[in-house]
Amino acid sequence: MVRHLVDVEDLSAHEIATIFAIARDLEAKYAAGLREPLFPGRVLGLVFEKQSLRTRASFEAAMAHLGGTSLFLGADTGFASSRECIADYGRVLSQYVDAIVCRSKAHETVAALAAVAHVPVINGLSDHSHPCQALADLYVLERQVGKLAGLTLAFVGDGNNVARSLAVACGLVGMKFVLAAPRGYQFDDAFRAHVRTLLPQAECHETTDAVAAVTGAAAVYTDVWTSMGQEAERARRTRDLAAYQVNEALMRHCPDALFMHCLPARRGEEVTDGVIDGARSIVVEQAAARMHLQKGLLAWLLGHR
Ligand code: CP
Ligand code: NVA
Repeated sequence: MVRHLVDVEDLSAHEIATIFAIARDLEAKYAAGLREPLFPGRVLGLVFEKQSLRTRASFEAAMAHLGGTSLFLGADTGFASSRECIADYGRVLSQYVDAIVCRSKAHETVAALAAVAHVPVINGLSDHSHPCQALADLYVLERQVGKLAGLTLAFVGDGNNVARSLAVACGLVGMKFVLAAPRGYQFDDAFRAHVRTLLPQAECHETTDAVAAVTGAAAVYTDVWTSMGQEAERARRTRDLAAYQVNEALMRHCPDALFMHCLPARRGEEVTDGVIDGARSIVVEQAAARMHLQKGLLAWLLGHR
């Protein structure tokens, strides 16, 4: 059966640990100057409906390091347009490539692609989730802190795609997740019910109190208040989320916490320069971890055990 990564929960905790171990091994070899060509001649297709720096560049670099190549397929290939249906696009593309990364506007689009593709489909961000980001974040956090189980990650701001994937990933690895957001920006009932069913033991909390959320946290995470596709709501979102900025005053309530952000950041909005450039910020390490984690993920999906 072809395995996909449409959402974090497509992986078990054990599989996440396996992927982390492969990624750590390949990262150590890379650091020693060794780019093990595990997959010569293999091709990764990147089907993107939205802008990207990190996801695109890190996957392309990862595939090159593994001895393979990438095809970037942007708007001119007509994906999810009136040119042809997703089923035809996915079945045809599966004949040319060994795996597909898809960044879609609607989550249903990446799910539909996975349903028809004959090769692994990896969600490279949708409006609902960003599983590669969350997995890379926990991969780098584990290295920084030395463990994951028992830690608390506080997400301050919009309960968006990145927050949802982090909530599930934290639950899977035994971390507590707390979302601090105003009402209207917290998770919806369907997602809450999904998490309760999927991970009944998970400590997944929501609050309007950012100070309470960050107190005792190992990491404080934020993301933009207006995600791609929400630009028309920008004025309202900026106003409603203004009290949830991660700034020096908030970070004083958690003196041992690291600061995390998936990037790109809107400096001066969800985070101040002082915090994102400060000594406790690991945002560049997070971006670097995207490549290493995804190398482990590709190797695992393509059959390296
Ligand atoms: N964090 C992240 O996914 O960045 P890009 O949108 O640049 O890929
Ligand atoms: N929430 C952001 C994440 C970008 C990596 C967005 O969807 O635009």
